[in-house]
Amino acid sequence: MQSHEIRQRFLDFFAKRGHAILPSASLVPENDPSVLFNTAGMQPLVPYLMGQKHPLGNRLASCQKCVRTGDLDDIGDNRHFSFFEMLGNWSLGDYFKEEAIKWSYEFLTDKEHGLGLDPARLAVTIFKGDENAPYDQESKDIWLSLGIPEHRIYALPAGDNWWSPGDNGPCGPCSEMFYDMTGEFVGKEISHNDFLQLIEQEKFIEIWNDVFMEYEKREGKVIGKLAQKNVDTGAGLERLAAVMQGKHTAYNTDLFKDIFEYIKDNSKDAFDVIPARIIADHVRTATLMISDGVIPGNKDQGYVLRRLIRRALVQANKIQSGYSILMGLQSTFVSRYEKIYNNLKQNPVHQYEIFIKEIEKFQNTLHNGLKEFEKGIDPFILATTYGFPIELTEELAKERGINIDRVDFDKKMSEHQKLSQSASAGMFKGGLANTNEKTVQLHTAHHLLLSALQQVLGPEVKQRGSNITEERLRIDFVFDRKMTDEEKSEVEKIVNEKIQAKLPVVRKEMKREDAEQIGAQMEFGAKYPDTVSVYMIGGEDAHAFSKEFCGGPHVQNTSELGTFKIQKEEASSAGIRRIKAVLQ
Ligand code: ALA
Repeated sequence: MQSHEIRQRFLDFFAKRGHAILPSASLVPENDPSVLFNTAGMQPLVPYLMGQKHPLGNRLASCQKCVRTGDLDDIGDNRHFSFFEMLGNWSLGDYFKEEAIKWSYEFLTDKEHGLGLDPARLAVTIFKGDENAPYDQESKDIWLSLGIPEHRIYALPAGDNWWSPGDNGPCGPCSEMFYDMTGEFVGKEISHNDFLQLIEQEKFIEIWNDVFMEYEKREGKVIGKLAQKNVDTGAGLERLAAVMQGKHTAYNTDLFKDIFEYIKDNSKDAFDVIPARIIADHVRTATLMISDGVIPGNKDQGYVLRRLIRRALVQANKIQSGYSILMGLQSTFVSRYEKIYNNLKQNPVHQYEIFIKEIEKFQNTLHNGLKEFEKGIDPFILATTYGFPIELTEELAKERGINIDRVDFDKKMSEHQKLSQSASAGMFKGGLANTNEKTVQLHTAHHLLLSALQQVLGPEVKQRGSNITEERLRIDFVFDRKMTDEEKSEVEKIVNEKIQAKLPVVRKEMKREDAEQIGAQMEFGAKYPDTVSVYMIGGEDAHAFSKEFCGGPHVQNTSELGTFKIQKEEASSAGIRRIKAVLQ
């Protein structure tokens, strides 16, 4: 059974039993600043579980988009996904354990309207009891009445069988359903300890959770009962798809099959399953986050999105698939999920651009960043100059068995941010990437400036040194006198014209001789390899306004630069002038 049919059957099944079907809420919680993303189907329903009246009644069901990013490190294994869809049904003070358990069981095992799973392969857990609530005999009795043998009902402590979305809010004991993936255990008694082991070994996997939410938690403590008895259930679509399609992992189901083929086709010999899974998972999550309005950035949701995209890019690099593969996957996920989640249809070009822009931004620095990484890991330089999220540096270091001093990094980072903020009077408050963005912009302006100087002062003007901070650029060049005010304003005018002309900044790899042939500027005294990277602005090859041997990074288009202004022109040493300039 394909995943879309599982989803549809679930919603139809509960609609038939009086449930209003809710569209998925946004991944970003609307009124709950305590979490970055919805991590369960119940999250958007918290006020109603706490007693508020829901406009659509007291029986609800949905397929909710969820994101859990607590264990990104685990992604690549069989079970973890950063995005998943959770099927759920709710009773807001209406039915309780009897119906909830009965319907879960019926949906799982009914051949005609449910999933038709073999009841002999099910096992269930119930709450064992503690100081907050008693042993859940009622649930046990219901399971027995449905024909689940006593030896397939396991009583577990709160760590396993008490569910709450966080330290505050509704919570309660739960009863979980597990499925025997192997079929080896039909009719066999399995001891308590063996059962726990079989879960570890992924021979039994959890497919559904019924939570009986009649309690409330405050600051991590259960404080008593709610005014109403609720039911909150959740079944992961990915898990159900794996079970229904007899696969050990959802990565091998219809949800990802063509995605893997695409990755394989584009990575040739370097294909490896773990990077492919990470790419597939992260691009899917990023696509859905962007459709819910998240934009890559330095904080909160935006930072999680940025990490996902940048991680995916590092993995694409590993399997030599080229970064365009990520764009292809984004489009594939859009066409798959737009049928289910409307947001993907709104402004798809814009969504695509947000995705690409983040990729290109990092792609430009990734290569040099990885080289820098190999030289000796400095997480601070990697973050500020190359845009490596610290978590990424940590992961790459971990692969090599190296530890990162996170405390030292955080300290340097906050000093750095304080410094750049006070130096620029709050202009670049955004922190890390903005700082990085600013240097990238100044770098492109630097290229424009050199060409403008050559145009105004003569082609013999050669660069002799450069230095860029977040606040300004500095260029040293060969010229034997002070520039006049007219010359300075002419240079400014030319650079600003090129900015206003919105010129694309194009990177080209070419043979060194060819680059010399078209007159690309080289850095004095530098040694270049046989193949070089040349950045061109405004025109192609010999006709480009600016062409320089350069490793980047640069902005995509000069329109990103703002207004160029020369701050100072002075002597640096004999025959060498120095200009400091800013972008405003
Ligand atoms: N809210 C419960 C869960 O996420 C159903 O497992």
